[in-house]
Amino acid sequence: MDKSKKILLFGGSGQLGSQMCRLWSDLHVTAPSRSEIDVEDRAAVERAVAAADPDVVINCTAYNDVVRAESEPERAFAVNAFAVDSLSRICAGRDCTFVTFSTDYVFDGTQRRPYVEGDAPNPATGYGISKLAGELLTLRRASPAFVIRTCGVYGTRVSSSKGYTFIDRIIAQAKAGEPVRIVDDQVVSPTYAGDLAVAVRALLEANPEPGIYHAVNEGAVSWYEFACETLRQAGIEAAVTRISSREFGSAVRRPAYSALENAKLNAIGLSLPDWRSGIAAYLRDRREIEKGASRP
Ligand SMILES: NC(=O)c1ccc[n+]([C@@H]2O[C@H](COP(=O)([O-])OP(=O)(O)OC[C@H]3O[C@@H](n4cnc5c(N)ncnc54)[C@H](OP(=O)(O)O)[C@@H]3O)[C@@H](O)[C@H]2O)c1
Repeated sequence: MDKSKKILLFGGSGQLGSQMCRLWSDLHVTAPSRSEIDVEDRAAVERAVAAADPDVVINCTAYNDVVRAESEPERAFAVNAFAVDSLSRICAGRDCTFVTFSTDYVFDGTQRRPYVEGDAPNPATGYGISKLAGELLTLRRASPAFVIRTCGVYGTRVSSSKGYTFIDRIIAQAKAGEPVRIVDDQVVSPTYAGDLAVAVRALLEANPEPGIYHAVNEGAVSWYEFACETLRQAGIEAAVTRISSREFGSAVRRPAYSALENAKLNAIGLSLPDWRSGIAAYLRDRREIEKGASRP
């Protein structure tokens, strides 16, 4: 990317935003924290954008709590829809490229092949509905905006809303000798945030037609298979028990099949590593971070 371009990034403390800050350190990135700028505060966002005068605004913020979004949809909409609308409106007024992220949960999961960008959304959860609203509010504007749908994001930084990452929890449970019980009836495209950050940069550099793009580690896998492969690559021997979503007992019915295909990225010659390589990259980066933390 042209290094003179100024990037203003919201959500820099999250799984994805933190990887962008880490991997794009050669670019001119400003990432105000949530305590500095709350994206729900439109006036504060406007002031931040005016002060930074960015060429690109990247929104990595989210209300990601799928269970709570059922009981407090207004909170999910405040961050995932109305704040996204404000950001896209502010960017459109300044001719600044806007990049925001959406989810596989915009699909109902009744399909049995990976969803492509042109498939019809039909979200079944409050979270998915709020994210689809954010997509639509962004895309109705003519200014350059990229809505990047991704799936099952995991990173080296713990998501503050969840307090844990799925992959960390599997490893911790297995190491502690606790039972590892994982659903095998949800098929997804789990995506390492580091690989996604690299792909988003490549997309911006390619500068294709704006719109919706899917960006996931390639392939479709159940959470059970993903857990088994994670433990295999981490060199941890542990029994993993397959359970059904019903046995898991979540208050929210998640899509049974929400793998995504990077159809539009592939069409412009871009791709992400497959899901197994995503795990390998995550484990490598985690080791590096742990090594750095233990250095005197
Ligand atoms: N995680 C997944 O499995 C998944 C799957 C599909 C799509 N996505 C999408 O991918 C994107 C990145 O997700 P992620 O996993 O990186 O999220 P994350 O780790 O939960 O991070 C969310 C970020 O948003 C910030 N934030 C939340 N509310 C805010 C507000 N009102 N004002 C300012 N900042 C606020 C958080 O700040 P604090 O840390 O200070 O709270 C944090 O930096 C999101 O659009 C998400 O919906 C994620």
